[in-house]
Amino acid sequence: MVPLFIALAIISGIGALLAATLVFAERVISNYGDVEVDINKGNKKLAMKGGGSLLETLTAQKIFIPSACGGRGTCGYCKVKVLEGAGPLLPTEEPYMDAEERSSGVRLSCQVKLRNDLKIELPAELLTIKEYVSVCEEIIDYTYDTKQFRLRLTDGQHMKYTPGQYVQVLAPQYEKSSEEVYRAYSISSDPADQAAIELIIRRVPDGICTTYLFDYLKVGDKVRINGPYGQFYLRDTTAPIIFIAGGSGIAPMKCILHNMKNTNNDRRAVFFFGIRTTKDLFLAEEMTRFETQLAQFKFVPVVSQPEPGAEWAGVTGRVTHIAEDYLRKQGNAHEHEGYLCGSPGMIESSIGILKKLGITEDKIYYDKFS
Ligand SMILES: Cc1cc2nc3c(=O)[nH]c(=O)nc-3n(C[C@H](O)[C@H](O)[C@H](O)COP(=O)(O)OP(=O)(O)OC[C@H]3O[C@@H](n4cnc5c(N)ncnc54)[C@H](O)[C@@H]3O)c2cc1C
Ligand code: FES
Repeated sequence: MVPLFIALAIISGIGALLAATLVFAERVISNYGDVEVDINKGNKKLAMKGGGSLLETLTAQKIFIPSACGGRGTCGYCKVKVLEGAGPLLPTEEPYMDAEERSSGVRLSCQVKLRNDLKIELPAELLTIKEYVSVCEEIIDYTYDTKQFRLRLTDGQHMKYTPGQYVQVLAPQYEKSSEEVYRAYSISSDPADQAAIELIIRRVPDGICTTYLFDYLKVGDKVRINGPYGQFYLRDTTAPIIFIAGGSGIAPMKCILHNMKNTNNDRRAVFFFGIRTTKDLFLAEEMTRFETQLAQFKFVPVVSQPEPGAEWAGVTGRVTHIAEDYLRKQGNAHEHEGYLCGSPGMIESSIGILKKLGITEDKIYYDKFS
């Protein structure tokens, strides 16, 4: 019979050998050498070490691609057109591609590994996205799980953005995360001041970035952000507007409303703001103030489950159903433009309702906080 300590020594030895083999495999077998990424038909050429994902490689070169899930292949935001060198579409990418994207070579850049030279095409606006260093100037508690962060850009810089767009915030490594991650947050501030931006953020339990922002970030700390991104902005038409948001989804709506006020935009607009309990309500005063500043604006907070004993005299129910009732009563639902922001479930349900009421897909705009 082999004594226990010898058996343990043999097991540890095998473990160490396996670990060394894996390191060797990573260094030698997966050594793809130097590769070249050609952007926009020779406009820019990057020479770099192969092996990483296209997304992380571009980010390292300060070319920022939207990425809401931090490269886990679950948000579908990091699409890039690859003209040559990426190999076949992976099963992880398929759910995010429509027929046109498949045939034109669109890929999820976080899933494409740099094994050989690549030719890619990037829209001009992505090449203008910049990284900014900001200082956290103020943190305001809105509710038990939602805060506003005010970030002032350093060196007198300004970020030129369209109200409704978002930025990516870099959460650095900290004791609860061994990796740096980027997460998307919509700009909520008054665009009249583009030297600072405000973000409204809801804590996600055990979330990497929100735990960092809520429990570690202090006023005076530096925060790296990049942007602006996104197609969620108010279209320049005269159509009546229906805004539907849940929780921190109020952020881009607030920015858009500030801009409507600044530009004397008097379009008819109603904002249905969904929250679960009365404890989740915030910014009600500021929204009500917009009613006095904008000629035809109405704010309707909707509580889905008022807690027992809560003194809530406002609207109760599911925000999507309340919005539907309102549109039905208008009689001209199909003339509206829909602007939606919040959880994927709320957005899918709102899209279904708006389409049922005759609003065509091209008049429904949204940002899913996935
Ligand atoms: C375009 C865009 C704009 C956004 N704007 C805002 C904004 O203005 N304010 C804001 O608060 N958030 C916003 N988000 C969501 C934000 O980007 C992060 O997804 C969120 O803060 C969670 O990040 P995390 O690193 O803390 O959690 P992670 O570490 O990414 O996630 C931890 C766990 O929670 C789950 N999870 C992730 N997100 C959520 C969620 N929202 N609710 C419940 N579970 C979740 C994940 O599946 C995972 O299991 C936006 C997202 C997008 C795509
Ligand atoms: S970064 Fe989310 S799918 Fe690629």
